[in-house]
Amino acid sequence: MPSELVETIKSTIQSNDHPYMQGAWRPTYNEWNATFADGDTEVIGTIPDDIDGVYVRTGENQIHEPIGRYHPFDGDGFIHSIAFKDGKASYRSRFVRTKGFEAEKEVGHSLWAGLMEPPHKSIRPGWGAQEWLKDSSSTDVIVHAGKILSTFYQCGEGYRLDPFTMEQHGTEAWVPVDGISAHTKVDEATGELMFFNYSKHAPYMHYGVVGPDNKLKHYVPIPLPGPRLPHDMCFTENYSILNDMPLFWNEELLERNVHAVEFHPDMPTRFAIIPRYGQPEDIRWFEADPTYTLHWINAYEEGDEIIMDGYFQEEPQPKSYPDAPEGLERMMAYLSQGLMKPKLHRWRFDLKTGKTREERLDDRILEFGMFNQKYAGRKYRYAYSAIPEPYWFLFKGLVKHDLDTGESWSYELGEGRYASESPFVPRIGAKDEDDGYLVSYVADVNADTSECVLIDAKNMEAGPVCRIILPERICSGTHSTWANGSDIGMGENSVLAA
Ligand SMILES: [Fe+2]
Repeated sequence: MPSELVETIKSTIQSNDHPYMQGAWRPTYNEWNATFADGDTEVIGTIPDDIDGVYVRTGENQIHEPIGRYHPFDGDGFIHSIAFKDGKASYRSRFVRTKGFEAEKEVGHSLWAGLMEPPHKSIRPGWGAQEWLKDSSSTDVIVHAGKILSTFYQCGEGYRLDPFTMEQHGTEAWVPVDGISAHTKVDEATGELMFFNYSKHAPYMHYGVVGPDNKLKHYVPIPLPGPRLPHDMCFTENYSILNDMPLFWNEELLERNVHAVEFHPDMPTRFAIIPRYGQPEDIRWFEADPTYTLHWINAYEEGDEIIMDGYFQEEPQPKSYPDAPEGLERMMAYLSQGLMKPKLHRWRFDLKTGKTREERLDDRILEFGMFNQKYAGRKYRYAYSAIPEPYWFLFKGLVKHDLDTGESWSYELGEGRYASESPFVPRIGAKDEDDGYLVSYVADVNADTSECVLIDAKNMEAGPVCRIILPERICSGTHSTWANGSDIGMGENSVLAA
């Protein structure tokens, strides 16, 4: 079936040579509907008929000429959703209709300065822990209570969309006044959603739980010594794990409303372990080696220990990127995984002794971990990481780790081809944890195309079993999720609904 162009959003961006507005990060403005089946010219290989659900990936896709310097994390949220059922696929792409999107559309230009500019350059008060940014709802997506929950890393309102039709349902009513951070977490076993937020005012962090009925069940402070910049959280069957890492805004400069991030190698990393419905007095704090961790993978309980895996940055405050355009050296450095050196790492928190043990699991630079969500918060065996292009916020391949044996397998996409975050898709009726696929959107900057690829997780070195060429090349982005159709129900307007 031919692709249908639904709407083209008017951009006001002038031509420029910003490194994160070219190549795989070049923004696009068309919103599409498209369906695919075997035999279509866009389908290379065979669309698996043993998966049922939806892959949703968001990203930062700037619409208007920025006020001052552009950081890719400022871009407008643009979600690409592709549903699979019975060997057919249905793709839909939509910008998130945030309050900022609508306000800037009305005036026809940017109203908010981004991360790299002083807050006073914003024309209107904004959102987030920094307080003057646009809530672009561009960082992360999960599917909870049957709907996408789209979130912003600096804390925003949280927007809901239908994962199949992409119908927009506006902001989420239970979100607290301090907003919610990216990296809300869903426990597939219970349907509960865990979240956190952070701000510049005491107690600086909160944590909450929302039920499968989409009602706020729990919301408590996690008191911190000052403003912090947490990005992710983790959970086990009975506990949630929040963090206080020694990378945060310089406190003196912050009094003058200057937001300068600094790493304090003399301070420990601290983890707050709280029962899922615990009170602040139930928090147990654990100390660990100083680092910054952008993302954790999974955590679980084993005996007296809580075991948590993630990526330990060896250089949380990277030196400036030498070949960056003038004024963008620091931004380019903080987007270079090759300079920050995140490595697969295991933390073990002993609930009996209060001590932390740590272990490096791989010396390669890796990030953006995924695993079979059925094992979220439970003992798991397989982790899938992205291999960064060393000095860019781009992924050139994927690695699978068997965490029991230490074995690993990898697949690299080839020159000029970049993956998205690539969640695990379980095969219908799967018995093994790794019986399924990895799904990703791949941008091919040589061919100027994007495709959705599916890779057999048990044989990933063989490369994709299926490639579906999208209507146009899409902009690189950040986070993604896979939601099983059986868990969330098929949208009644979906072209795949029987
Ligand atoms: Fe993230």
